Amino acid sequence: MDKINFTVNGERYSLSKYIIVERKVICSTVAIGRYLRRRLAWLGDIFNPREAHPPPPPTPRIDAQVDIQAGSEVSPSTTLNDFLRNTIGLVGTKAMCHEGGCGVCVVSVAKAHPGTNEKHVLAVNSCLVHILSCHEWDITTIEGVGNRKDGYNELQIRLATFNGTQCGYCTPGWIMNMYRYET
Ligand code: FES
Repeated sequence: MDKINFTVNGERYSLSKYIIVERKVICSTVAIGRYLRRRLAWLGDIFNPREAHPPPPPTPRIDAQVDIQAGSEVSPSTTLNDFLRNTIGLVGTKAMCHEGGCGVCVVSVAKAHPGTNEKHVLAVNSCLVHILSCHEWDITTIEGVGNRKDGYNELQIRLATFNGTQCGYCTPGWIMNMYRYET
């Protein structure tokens, strides 16, 4: 698998997987020994005054090869919340505490159970989920549940009709938490 594929509100997204192909560092032990001897030459002044000023050894040889292949679409630390809000512009999913405490960032996720392959629908705190772990997830955000253009979902209508919000900032999170039971 070299791609992370998932859908958001029915639209398909595909990201390169970040892979460290090879990391190899070779150090010559002889060279390191010479290097340390040079760095600690001042000790010779104390313990062996005759060797106090040896000729300077050659510079140690350290061969390092770091070969990293990485996708360029998003940074490896991007969360699902960052991706929704900052990459594809779905700002209906809010962000506040970024540590799973407030619930404003909840989205609905349908994904297969790794053992049984049965599809489950979960309410997920998008601030806690790494975007590169969303492979084959079907993600629904508040925009996919209902909106002014396409009509509101019954949950949204009821919450608004019965004055179920205050400032409204966390309302998308409430709706998405309840929406999980509707699907
Ligand atoms: S931002 Fe508060 S739970 Fe995700």
